[in-house]
Amino acid sequence: MEVDKKDERESDSSEQVVNPWEVSAKDGGKIDYDKLIDKFGCQRLDESLIDRVQRLTSRQPHVFLRRGVFFAHRDFNEILDAYEKGDKFYLYTGRGPSSEALHLGHLIPFMFTKYLQEAFKVPLVIQLTDDEKCMWKNLSVEESQRLARENAKDIIACGFDVTKTFIFSDFDYVGGAFYKNMVKVSKCVTLNKAMGIFGFSGEDHIGKLSFPPVQAVPSFPSSFPHLFPGKDNLRCLIPCAIDQDPYFRMTRDVAPRLGYSKPALIESSFFPALQGENGKMSASDPNSAIYVTDTAKDIKNKINRYAFSGGQDSVEKHRELGANLEVDIPVKYLSFFLEDDSELEHIKKEYGEGRMLTGEVKKRLTEVLTEMVERHRRSRAAVTDEMVDAFMAVRPLPSMFE
Ligand code: TRP
Repeated sequence: MEVDKKDERESDSSEQVVNPWEVSAKDGGKIDYDKLIDKFGCQRLDESLIDRVQRLTSRQPHVFLRRGVFFAHRDFNEILDAYEKGDKFYLYTGRGPSSEALHLGHLIPFMFTKYLQEAFKVPLVIQLTDDEKCMWKNLSVEESQRLARENAKDIIACGFDVTKTFIFSDFDYVGGAFYKNMVKVSKCVTLNKAMGIFGFSGEDHIGKLSFPPVQAVPSFPSSFPHLFPGKDNLRCLIPCAIDQDPYFRMTRDVAPRLGYSKPALIESSFFPALQGENGKMSASDPNSAIYVTDTAKDIKNKINRYAFSGGQDSVEKHRELGANLEVDIPVKYLSFFLEDDSELEHIKKEYGEGRMLTGEVKKRLTEVLTEMVERHRRSRAAVTDEMVDAFMAVRPLPSMFE
């Protein structure tokens, strides 16, 4: 039995808070991910699992696995056991379309999901929770739907294979088999339970209470009869940031009661703000993040002005003591996005021992991110409305396991 541990909704700076709506570290420090694993009751993703991924996919594991960006899981080992025996699975991830422009942190789950799709050759469903953002962000229905479509273009630009990928918006797709599963899930979750898992209170409107089943049921293949007819036992793997864990704790709790398999999860840490590592980037502060719409000049300025440096105050002191890599944001960002392991190691050593200066590290980061953002921009510009329609069409995916 899984233990359900409660989340506290109210911010109390003496405790870290991580839930789908709030991520804040204890007293402005760093998120304690070990503590989070304990509290949520998930498992650490260790070397032996990463080695297994390498063996099963015959390719080098993604940087996000090698460098511990995805660091926790639930039953990922079971997905690999089954895969080893020839049983496939499907991937499920999503995005709440709350803003027009995505920042780098938003791209992380999608970059990783694309790698999983390619490496394991499996189908993927992507949920755009326009309904969720309409309720939480006080957007109009129309505006949420518009944002969902705009965000779909950024997601498609990450390179997903249209023959293996179904993208849907809740406003368009909820109904039929999907809705039947929502009702089944709803009947299994008491108000007390929902308040415990999500921190809902009597002041929240009932729309919020009704939402968790919407995010839960894409974990069940029977919610997609056009994709997985007769494949009710197909297992689901969900790549997501760990703040989404409460939704899937609930899902995993009810699944056996409905005769369904529990979805497996592979969970990431948060991409830190430019100002430092005490939460995730905030959509409301444009200077806390690099956006995929930023120009080369914006990127350079933001990194130079705002990226928190672990370097020393004076060059003399820096040469003597070296940089504190633990708090240094340029090094942290490079560890997410600089593919070359040996170059990263070199930078860490030289910078950590004071031979390299903050300015040089920032310059390298500027190059890496500019290149990445330019690439994204070109690929997004090539996404047509017809392509969005093609990804979002309710249709079978004939070559989904090839
Ligand atoms: N609630 C998520 C968000 O606000 C969106 C989402 C829906 C999601 N389904 C998901 C994220 C599955 C990860 C996995 O961004």
